[in-house]
Amino acid sequence: MQQSGQVWDAKEYAANGRFVADLAQDVVALLAPAPGERILDLGCGDGALTERLAAFGTDVTGCDRAPEMLAAASARGLRTVAADMTALPFAHEFDAVFSNAALHWTRAQPTVLAGVHRALRPGGRFVAEMGGLGNIAAIRTALQVLLRSYGVDAEEHAASFFPSADEYAGLLQAAGFRVSSIALIPRPTQLPGGMDAWLRTFRNGVLQQVPESRREAVIAEAVDLLWPVLCDSSGVWWADYVRLRFRAERE
Ligand code: BEZ
Repeated sequence: MQQSGQVWDAKEYAANGRFVADLAQDVVALLAPAPGERILDLGCGDGALTERLAAFGTDVTGCDRAPEMLAAASARGLRTVAADMTALPFAHEFDAVFSNAALHWTRAQPTVLAGVHRALRPGGRFVAEMGGLGNIAAIRTALQVLLRSYGVDAEEHAASFFPSADEYAGLLQAAGFRVSSIALIPRPTQLPGGMDAWLRTFRNGVLQQVPESRREAVIAEAVDLLWPVLCDSSGVWWADYVRLRFRAERE
């Protein structure tokens, strides 16, 4: 499977996923957006972070394939384009392509990188953060084990791509980029709504594979399994995120 069946709900995301944009300061610093620059925010979601890039005085365009999320971004007054990241319709028109927490949603990486390369002007930069090797390992293991009893391969349905720094550097170079920095960064991430809300918001494509009559029980079992390793002594839930952050220039 190349792409997950994940469905995005703008209200649910606003309640349970705001931390995604809130924790993006390091990748934004790596981008170092300058006034007037033409920037593409790839996988912009509801535009919370795109709006922050616009505040630097950039000429920013948000791009996403999820209609409800894109509508939320447009409602912020942002310029948006509906497109899947595997079919980007841009040619040599951006100084920079930026992406936060979106690239890992597809395995069709060479296609995505070819589209990013085409979207950039020569010498333009690609700056991004995504899940990297070992990302949400405990959560994935729990789902893999629990869904196996329903004949479902959770990893296959998630269709996520969490590469090592070396693997992604190789893909970037093969697509015509020079990699100036790339690193894996473990980042345990506090979950405001707990594990239950995280699973419902970020793993619905996988949970859909379980018969509806069993879904609530599976979510409860996953929470129960993960509690000893991802819930701290004060009852706060953490996801075992590992970020892959990089900057590369189009050759
Ligand atoms: C991530 O940002 O790493 C991520 C978020 C939701 C599901 C999978 C990965």
